[in-house]
Order: sequence, then C-alpha cells, then structure tokens
Amino acid sequence: MSGFKIMNTITDTNTNSKTQTDFLPLEGTDHVEFYVGNAKQAAHYYMTAFGFQALAYAGPETGVKDRASYAVRQNKLTFVLTTALRTDNLIADHIYKHGDGVKVLALGVNDAISAWEETTKRGAKTYMQPHRLKDENGEVVLSGIHTYGDTVHLFVERKNYKGAFMPGYKPWGNPHFKPADTGLLYVDHCVGNVGWNQMNPRVKFYEDVMGFRNILTFDDKDISTEYSALMSKVMSSGNGYVKFPINEPAEGKNKSQVEEYLEFYNGEGVQHVAMATNDIVKTVAELRNRGVEFLKVPNTYYDDLLDRVGRIDEDLEPLKELGILVDRDNEGYLLQLFSKPVEDRPTLFFEIIQRKGAKSFGKGNFKALFEAIEREQAARGNL
Ligand code: FE2
Repeated sequence: MSGFKIMNTITDTNTNSKTQTDFLPLEGTDHVEFYVGNAKQAAHYYMTAFGFQALAYAGPETGVKDRASYAVRQNKLTFVLTTALRTDNLIADHIYKHGDGVKVLALGVNDAISAWEETTKRGAKTYMQPHRLKDENGEVVLSGIHTYGDTVHLFVERKNYKGAFMPGYKPWGNPHFKPADTGLLYVDHCVGNVGWNQMNPRVKFYEDVMGFRNILTFDDKDISTEYSALMSKVMSSGNGYVKFPINEPAEGKNKSQVEEYLEFYNGEGVQHVAMATNDIVKTVAELRNRGVEFLKVPNTYYDDLLDRVGRIDEDLEPLKELGILVDRDNEGYLLQLFSKPVEDRPTLFFEIIQRKGAKSFGKGNFKALFEAIEREQAARGNL
C-alpha cells in the first residue's frame, strides 16, 4: 500500500488569545455512557478485559423501569453500560439504529444549571432540562445538550453528592469478581466522526456554543493514503481538560475509514475514546493477556523509529513486541496504540496513550496507523 502522503503542516490555529472568562468551565470527563445490546455482558467485558471495577447499578430493583445500567470505574475513568429492557423505548431505538456505541459524553461542572443556560442561549439544542436528583447521599444536578448525530453531552454537578455514582443507582456491593486494574487512568480525548462537510459546522458549534478552541488542524493531505483520506480538527475546552477531535471523510479513490464508520454506525458518532496510562508497556501487555485485540503495524515501523523520534526512556523490544507506536512533537513524546473495534460493527474502538510531554495526537503515526486500519477494512470488504 504505497502512495501515502504525510505533509508537515500542523496548523496551530490557537490565535484567540483574548482573555475572556470561560463561560463553560469543565472539570473533565465525568463519565462515558454506552448504549449496548447486553449491558450485563458489556460490563463484564470492561471489568474482565480492561480492569474496571464494579461501582453501581440502576434497574428495576432501584426503581428504574425501562433500562438496566452498570457503572464501572478505574481510577478517574467511569463507564456506564446501559441497555433497554423493553422494545418500545428510545434506548432500544438507539441500539437498533447504531449498534453498541457511545450515547453520552458527560462532563463535570460546578454548576449544571449555568452550563445549560450558557450553552442553550448560544444555540445548543436541549437534551435534558436541568433537574435535581436526590437520595440519602445528597444531590446531583444534571442537564444536557445535543452534539453530533444522536450523541449528547450531559453536564454533571456532583459537588453535593457523597454516594457511589448518582441517585437512582445503588452501590454494586462487594462482588466476588474483582479483576486487577490495568493502569488506565483517565479519558485523554474522545474523537467524533461526522459526515461530509460537517467538520467545520461542528467546530463552530464547539467554539460558539461551548467556548472550545481549535488547537490543531489536519487536512486531507496530512491524512491520506493512496486509497482514502480524512480531515480532522482538534477542539479543546478553555482549560484544556476536555479535548474532542472531529473527523470528516475526504475524497479518495476508495471509501475512507470515516465513511465505513458512518455507514455501519448509521450516522455520526464517537469513533474512539483515548484512555491514558503512566506505563503503556505494562498496561498493553495486561490488556492483551486479557483478550483486548490491537491493530498491528509492520515490524519495519521499528527499524528507523529512534531516528524519527530520538532518544526515549523505553526499551525498543517490548514496544515492538506489543506494537506500541511512538511520536514526538516539540514538547516531548507520546506512546500510543489502538484497539480493534470492540463490537462486531466496525465502529467504536479505544486508544491507549501515554504522554511524556507531548500534547499532540501522534501525527507521525498516521501513516502506519491508517495502513493498519485499511488492511482491516479490506479484510471486511469495505475498502
Ligand atoms: Fe486519538
């Protein structure tokens, strides 16, 4: 697969240095909620394969009649796996349309009412009116807005809450099954795939409605192979705690990976969630032992790796053995690796990332990575 073009044109579009007060101060990612066909089994997968721990449960036993939700946690990562209990239900419709995928990117805020007011007055469409949930552990205030496709952002204010997760959930208790954690720490970034010509409108949404900045831009010359291309802009919250790269397909000879996603997800949605670790060799070795499947780059990737990225702290052999990729920017370097899709549709996957100073996204790895993705696409008959 030749003809790959990588242009050295990262455009830093962070020109807005006006000192404005951040009208939407975000505390980070509160949780990610997935709508899935079988929440009980999905929760088991994240515990067994990724090392999350049982945290809380909501369902008929806790007074929630239409769904079952399992919250699992590892360090600052909280995932919620939710399924519909009946057919005539918006959750069931979502799963029928999209397969398993991310419904909610929930963001922590100090004031969920203000977050809703500030974003809706700038044009956001309401997903959830602000409302207070109370139980014996205190109060959580929730509100929500729509973003790309059927994906939504919830604003979660939990400063007056002491319980395991939120009202409506009960603690999972003390399960016998407690797999060891795998060193995954927090959400580094979440990438959205949007349709043709939809990247710039979505960038404008994050700028105007949520006060984000466009910190990096990759055009179709940066990210193209002989066969396919895409464009990407990275959006960052005012304080940098939340980063959302937005991809759209670009014209190529064949179907780009973003088009494949859009076809199988049946619309726009979350392409990958990147989870940070402080020891990627240990984390990836553990994940692989537990059955997580990763994209494989050719061994030749490592032949001139040190010439490309300079001196690194890690031994080369374990990186090569595990297929971990390395890239450097002018602030440091990063190590990263991408899983295969975690459901049967070629849609959502995960990235494991360790940052050693670098604040970028592995542009130097796009070539190797996209070739690996295209080999998988070709095997599915979708290239
Ligand atoms: Fe990423």
